[in-house]
Amino acid sequence: MSIILKTPSEIEKMRIAGKLAAQVLEMIEPYVVPGVSTETLDQICHDYIVDVQQAIPAPLNYRGFPKSICTSVNQQVCHGIPGVKKLKSGDIVNIDITVIKDDYHGDTSKMFCVGTVAPHAKRLIQITQEALYLGIEQIKSGATLGDIGHAIQRFAETNRYSVVREFCGHGIGKNFHEEPQVLHYGKPGDGIALEAGMIITIEPMINAGKRHVKVLSDGWTAVTKDRSLSAQWEHTILVTEHGHEVLTLRQEEL
Ligand code: MF3
Ligand code: CO
Ligand code: CO
Repeated sequence: MSIILKTPSEIEKMRIAGKLAAQVLEMIEPYVVPGVSTETLDQICHDYIVDVQQAIPAPLNYRGFPKSICTSVNQQVCHGIPGVKKLKSGDIVNIDITVIKDDYHGDTSKMFCVGTVAPHAKRLIQITQEALYLGIEQIKSGATLGDIGHAIQRFAETNRYSVVREFCGHGIGKNFHEEPQVLHYGKPGDGIALEAGMIITIEPMINAGKRHVKVLSDGWTAVTKDRSLSAQWEHTILVTEHGHEVLTLRQEEL
């Protein structure tokens, strides 16, 4: 298999799917408070995606995933399964939304602070978001995947954090996950060159401690081995001739 370049009409559909995914993150924000369970957040997002957006929550039943969103709390790195456990003040949580609209996927995630969060956790969240933006800034026709990975890794490690290796960004379109794999570490100039019409995600997972992760017995939830905090942010991005277009931008980022 190879990388699927998107046509102008496919790009238009990806813009719509991306906007819907971003709007779910905006919608859920006021609900992310101490005392709410992650399965309540899942239910609210599910109903909004299905009833208001008339779209499909891509995670539900994807390779057996049982819920409509991923919620990854504190030392959870990614793919956390919403459940009965309630968020408490001081928690940090990633909510990862993927919607399918008119056959095309939009995939995006952000970190939320629950109640009052410690400065060290806020710093991890902020550095991880900045790492995502530095990766995005590399994107234009002719740049390589290694340019993206290097920008992210250098910034994370300069700040004494580590980059998770087991999970990566990806091409996206009619499929949730397409080629290429977008690593969040690497060397400038390595890997394939980007071309206008490619659509990829960048979704760095950055740990406060060591980079190693393990997957819990639920088969999904990845956690840091050393139980250090982890943060992740994700956007879906179109490669253009002279740069890029972020398809999942939220109002707060404009
Ligand atoms: N949204 C995740 C990603 O960014 C994938 C989640 S797969 C699931 O690629 F099954 F856990 F939903
Ligand atoms: Co993704
Ligand atoms: Co995602």
